[in-house]
Amino acid sequence: MSAPVPAEEILRLREELRRHEHLYYVADSPEITDAEYDALMRQLQSLEAAHPEFDSPDSPSRRVGGAPREGFVKVRHSAQMLSLDNALNEGELRDFDRRVGELLEGAVYSYSAELKLDGLSMAVRYEQGRLSLAVTRGDGAEGEDVTANARTIRSLPLTVESPWDAFEVRGEVIMPRQAFERLNTARDAEGLPRYANPRNSAAGSLRVLDPAVTAARQLDFYAYLLLVDGRPALASHGQSLKRLAAMGFKVNINWRQCPGLDALISFCQEWDIRRDNLGYEIDGVVAKVDSVEQQQRLGWTAKAPRWAIAFKYPARQQSTVVEDILVQVGRTGALTPVACLRPVFVAGVTVSRATLHNEDEIERLGLQIGDTVVIERSGDVIPKVVRVERQGEERRPFRMPAGCPVCGRTVLRAEGEAATRCVNTNCPARLKESILHFASRGVMDIDGMGWALVDQLVDKGLVRGVADLYGLTREQLAGLERMGEKSAEKIVANIQSTREQPLPRVLNGLGIPFVGERTAQILADTFGEMDAIMRASEEDLQRAEEVGPKVASAIVRFFAVESNRELVDALGRAGLRFTHQKRVAAPGMLAGKTFVLTGTLPGMAREEAKQKIEDAGGKVTGSVSKKTDYVVAGADAGSKLDKARALAVPVIDEAELLRMLEG
Ligand code: IVH
Repeated sequence: MSAPVPAEEILRLREELRRHEHLYYVADSPEITDAEYDALMRQLQSLEAAHPEFDSPDSPSRRVGGAPREGFVKVRHSAQMLSLDNALNEGELRDFDRRVGELLEGAVYSYSAELKLDGLSMAVRYEQGRLSLAVTRGDGAEGEDVTANARTIRSLPLTVESPWDAFEVRGEVIMPRQAFERLNTARDAEGLPRYANPRNSAAGSLRVLDPAVTAARQLDFYAYLLLVDGRPALASHGQSLKRLAAMGFKVNINWRQCPGLDALISFCQEWDIRRDNLGYEIDGVVAKVDSVEQQQRLGWTAKAPRWAIAFKYPARQQSTVVEDILVQVGRTGALTPVACLRPVFVAGVTVSRATLHNEDEIERLGLQIGDTVVIERSGDVIPKVVRVERQGEERRPFRMPAGCPVCGRTVLRAEGEAATRCVNTNCPARLKESILHFASRGVMDIDGMGWALVDQLVDKGLVRGVADLYGLTREQLAGLERMGEKSAEKIVANIQSTREQPLPRVLNGLGIPFVGERTAQILADTFGEMDAIMRASEEDLQRAEEVGPKVASAIVRFFAVESNRELVDALGRAGLRFTHQKRVAAPGMLAGKTFVLTGTLPGMAREEAKQKIEDAGGKVTGSVSKKTDYVVAGADAGSKLDKARALAVPVIDEAELLRMLEG
């Protein structure tokens, strides 16, 4: 059989990748593993690199983001993007329903009720089946062209089949809670200010000039309106939602047809309770009169449609006074300032504590003890201080203590880090937190290992390090408070069963700063065994994907501490898994070669160059060393170029790189 024609193969791969993207990002039911997906993507990328004549902006490979731009262009909306009127309580919802009933003069009507997603709205235009334009809401009449950024949102299809030459989809761009938490953790590590909430970070991530930034932020798009020529395309809203889903858009499944006000009210009540369990934030329910013909009869006011209403849940914000700031010690030894609040009732619970994360955050807020602040409780996220509302008359600044509040030993703040840490690896506070982390669901998953038990284990001296868990006996446990023979036996068995957990979990369990689930997986995939990771230099470590200088140095520093090495030894003696199936690099033109990219390349974004090098089997690292094989320099290259010259590392330009890629 002859080899497939590249054009056909490219089209086939694109189609297949689109299908898997939809299964993964929209339908939430993937059929292949991430690694299989990556392999298909690499095949496509290398074919596309070899055949630039078949380039297409709709290719799934383009989701990584194109070149940064100078600014945003303003675009007029096909039809105004108006806001919604709010109903703040049941009475106002009844008023709305009464007005609808009166204006429809006794006709039968029903509502489509949807969750009100807390993000920012965006209009996306498709022409000849292709995504052609994405615009933010702006002032409603005119928004900003964010097409390049919107393309990186994986749940937004780049191509769609439809009977219309052109149509428009409107919906909400959101950042899931998990992505939001991850982003703020990363920003802490880089010493950057945190985002206040997922909505702000979604807006901030969509409106950046560099699409590669948007691509990294894991935004999601939920569609809720389907328009042709600025008007609803189908006869009812429910039909539009179903059609949007059938076309491949992500439509929030939690919508319901409500025959009348009572059903609508119970939908609102139901989601007020359930909203904490969602992976994203909502701030209410949107009810729309289902029939488009009736929508037209109801019409619009200057600001909002008369056929829709946003039922808003009570604000989860309250103001209160910061009476003191305490310091807690976490598992990595990080000292976390916590605001002690005059207790307030916020959305169903009394709140008396809120995390302040670190010193920089306190500075960003301009907070001092005695100030009145706005706090917010959202979902299961710990309450947080949003801003200072009023400065206290007798306010006093907070100072990080010079010693650990638990063990009294020295604390240090490493350069470039936001966190101040206790240096004592045996600090009881750290130990308790380390055990809880080690035992948690996403790590070693030791069922039954909660606060009450860990407190006793440490306080009674039964556990001096996580490895001691594996030596615990039924008799020792049965002697503890609130612990029967049966549960003691069960916990011992639970602990023993975790010896089989794979290396990435063990690595994550060690509590190395910045090494969470993902980085642990990458390290295990790259190095294959605990020993190799322990022995690796910062440079070696940086050869692993996504491992930058900060993470590499944290790993090296961790293993330089003797007690940490002893911990690893003890875990080894306990029989935990220290080996892992290495991921083999694809052989290619650049196999074994290490590159550093610097400056602006004339013809491709850095991310693209990195991808091309990796597709050909090469590695891209962040800093120049003697082990670097080539530095690829573009315009305005800085210190890396100087370093390359100093170390006599060959410097090449983009054209040379392309020649190497072509062999
Ligand atoms: S419909 C004419 N549906 O809420 C209809 N909006 O307060 C316009 N929003 O600007 C919007 N979830 O950004 C609609 N399921 C949903 C929504 C939703 C969130 C946002 C949207 C809108 C704002 C109005």
